[in-house]
Amino acid sequence: MLDDPEAFIRENTALQPVPHAPEIRLYVADEITPIWKMTEDALGAMGISPPFWAFAWAGGQALARYVLDHPEMVAGQTVLDFAAGSGLVAIAAMKAGAARALACDVDPICRAAIAVNAEANGVVVESTIDDLLDRPPPKVDVILAGDICYEKTLSDRVLKWLQAARAAGVTVLIGDPGRTYFPKSGLEQLAQYEVRTTRELEDYEIKRTGVWTLPD
Ligand SMILES: C[S@@+](CC[C@H](N)C(=O)[O-])C[C@H]1O[C@@H](n2cnc3c(N)ncnc32)[C@H](O)[C@@H]1O
Repeated sequence: MLDDPEAFIRENTALQPVPHAPEIRLYVADEITPIWKMTEDALGAMGISPPFWAFAWAGGQALARYVLDHPEMVAGQTVLDFAAGSGLVAIAAMKAGAARALACDVDPICRAAIAVNAEANGVVVESTIDDLLDRPPPKVDVILAGDICYEKTLSDRVLKWLQAARAAGVTVLIGDPGRTYFPKSGLEQLAQYEVRTTRELEDYEIKRTGVWTLPD
């Protein structure tokens, strides 16, 4: 594990506006940043998993845009950003007037990424690396989940957990660009965006990305 993950992030990424939510800036990877050129093996030798936190994923970008444009969804509310990565969605929620945002991600470096990104945007975001899927959903008003359906096991677990949260009265919003394990039914679409991402991660540079809610 890195001695100083916040310094590592600042030194190896660049603070840049998020394409679909440019009022937010994140420490991310691009062609000119050192982390772009590091192989998975080199990162692994430093104790770093693939750095999902170094990108603003299409699902998170769409969700951030939606929250910024619909502040009434989160204003004054307690929000959980599930699978937060960089913390983008939690930051958007705080900028939109949330009372409190907790960001969770099981990758320990995300805590540092969330901290440096929240600071860069002048907001406070709490974070945890506990796997919240192992327990009943927390007592929050809103759960925001950006880009969580890229892998079957995670997708199955998280969708069941989000349904339990919805049954307990929590508002659930999901941002998704049509990932393989995104469910084909049972969700209501609230918005659709054309989100710019990178060909290093995606098949297309522009990804059509939806924001969805779990209905009652
Ligand atoms: C594709 S990234 C999305 C990050 C961010 N939401 C965004 O849209 O930019 C998926 C994230 O899910 C996290 N993740 C995987 N399993 C998880 C779990 N059980 N609980 C919380 N986060 C998890 C990964 O570490 C990764 O950061």
